[in-house]
Amino acid sequence: MLSERIPVIKEEGEKALHGIKTAAELEVWEVKYLGRKSELNTLLKGLKDLPPEEKKIAGSLANKTKSELLIAFEALKKEISESNTDWTKEAIDVTAPGISVHAGHLHPISRLMHEVEDIFVSMGFAISDGPEVESEHYNFDALNFPKDHPSRDMQDTFWIKQEKKSKDRFLPRTHTSGVQVRFMETHKPPLRVVVPGRVFRNESTDASHEHTFHQFECLMVDVEGKVNVATFKYVAETFFGKFFGKKVNIRLRPSFFPFTEPSFEFDISCILCDGNGCSACKQSGWLEIGGAGMVNQKVFEAAGYKRGAYQGFAWGFGLARLAMMKYKITDIRLLLSGDLRFIRQF
Ligand code: FA5
Repeated sequence: MLSERIPVIKEEGEKALHGIKTAAELEVWEVKYLGRKSELNTLLKGLKDLPPEEKKIAGSLANKTKSELLIAFEALKKEISESNTDWTKEAIDVTAPGISVHAGHLHPISRLMHEVEDIFVSMGFAISDGPEVESEHYNFDALNFPKDHPSRDMQDTFWIKQEKKSKDRFLPRTHTSGVQVRFMETHKPPLRVVVPGRVFRNESTDASHEHTFHQFECLMVDVEGKVNVATFKYVAETFFGKFFGKKVNIRLRPSFFPFTEPSFEFDISCILCDGNGCSACKQSGWLEIGGAGMVNQKVFEAAGYKRGAYQGFAWGFGLARLAMMKYKITDIRLLLSGDLRFIRQF
């Protein structure tokens, strides 16, 4: 009778299991009691030939026995495997030096952008931005660039290929000045705003020129007579004084930008030698920073303002050049190189 044989198999199996010490012995036991050709398995296969009543009793008993033997087998297997583990290898030496993990941090340019924004906000300026892919209208036309101005041609501008049919051409913006017009279209004076942003130029790169760099545009507009070149000088001196943490003088040199009249290049007194002359400023005592001027009335008109109703100044400067001065970086190309050996120094 099967139902009598099954408990005997179970007893034998359990007894045999008690004497096992090694994984090899356990493997032999597994084949004998749980394997495909084990007696228990053979009995299970033969159940189909039994009369229904006996099949029911023997089937449930055989399955129960099989799962009990399996549980006992798994428990012993775990015990043997743990006893074979070399725990000395698993031990942790709490006195061993740790592996240093580099935490990520903001890129020096992003950090400086935040710093510049904070200073301008403390001076009552709003922050705005505009699209990096700009239309020819905002980047050039509205800023009074003549149609044949050389900076529109392939020397300076990466033009974007487009369908012949479209009215306006598009480009990765060459400066942040286009946002002046965008901002004035939606805001009425008095206004003060700065626009940080990435710009792109078809430049041959060298230690102080990149094809992609960050600019800050600063615009202040009020009714006639309220904002003049002296206001610009004061704002710029205050900004750079706060940025470099020391008194900075501003020097203006006549220049030309189609969107400002009069226009200037502006320099700051060398922050390394305080204007006395050193190698960084080529002994001149001055460092070139950016362009500036009083907003051309044609730009006000392009933004929808009445000609002559307002007066304002605008200036723009490159953030990478400031970063180079602040951190004494000798090659601008390092900034966007993605070289972690460089970035991790900040
Ligand atoms: C302009 O881009 C004008 N939009 C600035 C301006 C604004 C004038 C408002 C008047 C009123 P410019 O091309 O000179 O001007 O660039 C301004 C600054 O951007 C430069 O002084 C310099 O700091 C930075 N810059 C220009 N070209 C590069 C370059 N290839 N790589 C890194 N920085 C650059």
